[in-house]
Amino acid sequence: MSAETTPAVLVEGRGIVKTFGGGGLLRRQEPTRAIDGVDLDIRVGEVVALIGESGSGKTTLGKVLLRLTSLDAGTVRFGGADVFRANNATLRKLRREFQMVFQNQSANLHPKMTVREMMDESLRLHRPELDAAGRAAQGSELLSRVGLAARSEQRPASLSGGERRRVGLARILATRPRLIVADEPTSGLDAAIKQQMVDLLKVLKDPDLAYLLISHDLGLVRKISERVLVMLKGRIIEEVPAAELGKAAFHHPYTHKLMRAADLLEDGHGHPAAHGRAGEPAARPYDPADRSGVTSVGCVHAADCQLGARLGILSRCSGERPKPVALGPGHWVACFAAESKEAVG
Ligand SMILES: Nc1ncnc2c1ncn2[C@@H]1O[C@H](COP(=O)(O)OP(=O)(O)OP(=O)(O)O)[C@@H](O)[C@H]1O
Ligand code: SF4
Ligand SMILES: [Mg+2]
Repeated sequence: MSAETTPAVLVEGRGIVKTFGGGGLLRRQEPTRAIDGVDLDIRVGEVVALIGESGSGKTTLGKVLLRLTSLDAGTVRFGGADVFRANNATLRKLRREFQMVFQNQSANLHPKMTVREMMDESLRLHRPELDAAGRAAQGSELLSRVGLAARSEQRPASLSGGERRRVGLARILATRPRLIVADEPTSGLDAAIKQQMVDLLKVLKDPDLAYLLISHDLGLVRKISERVLVMLKGRIIEEVPAAELGKAAFHHPYTHKLMRAADLLEDGHGHPAAHGRAGEPAARPYDPADRSGVTSVGCVHAADCQLGARLGILSRCSGERPKPVALGPGHWVACFAAESKEAVG
């Protein structure tokens, strides 16, 4: 293998398709194509954010990557191993290396155990080589890392919401993961606790630990991730360096909408005329139950796209799936308008 300047790929997803449902006893229901042909790479040690509105498929994609749910087509490789073809022994090993922090992580804590006992239990399971003294030392160190050394004799009921999430994180770190999928790690927390979690995620970062950070919170994403993937109706429609979010000369119209809603567009950015004019009606509200735009053909934004209408390209947009157009280092957009100088520059 040649020496590389960029870190090796840790997770490689190709052509991932995941559908739910379909059929139904009384009514024929259309299956929900929750993931609609996604390719993605996560490199060793990087923090990648996955953003998109409710129902766009973020949690499902995180679960597919960790084989917490099945897939209908495509492949996922972790450290080179095919996750969906792994035998039980390989899967057990992989399961130690990738972990998911869920929105309701604190629900997984044992109500009768102290924080120290829970750490001991996790270490007993994941670090069988450690004896009791080794587990005690390792447990204390992990609790110090998450700022809970003084709370080790507490039970979950006497911990705050933020502290419970930190216990959850310490238990995950006990497995020495190489990838943590953090699904809305700060949702439901007040501003001060949220800031503590953000600081903590930064402190816990080490060069061998990669994160896939799933979040609605674009401010958070911009603070702690390196790369941002934008998901819409089961597809990744843009990848952009986090530092470029809101500053790049062109964003996918849907990313633009998300950033405008989050007030993240910088002065002088972009193409207000290309993306909609003052006084133009807003796009219809996104309804996660409405999967009408989700097919394997055409752009999933075509029904709402003012930019496509302005450029007169909507018939192409509806009939052909846009391929990624490279706009700069680490920045691509799956949008036909990105091919047009009029829209981009
Ligand atoms: N177990 C399931 N059974 C049926 N449909 C599902 C299931 N899980 C997810 N879906 C559907 O798949 C789509 C994607 O859901 P997913 O939970 O991945 O979205 P999300 O982007 O994580 O949303 P949120 O931001 O609200 O958490 C939605 O339409 C959802 O209703
Ligand atoms: S491909 Fe067409 S419909 Fe889709 S976002 Fe671009 S311009 Fe709009
Ligand atoms: Mg989700």
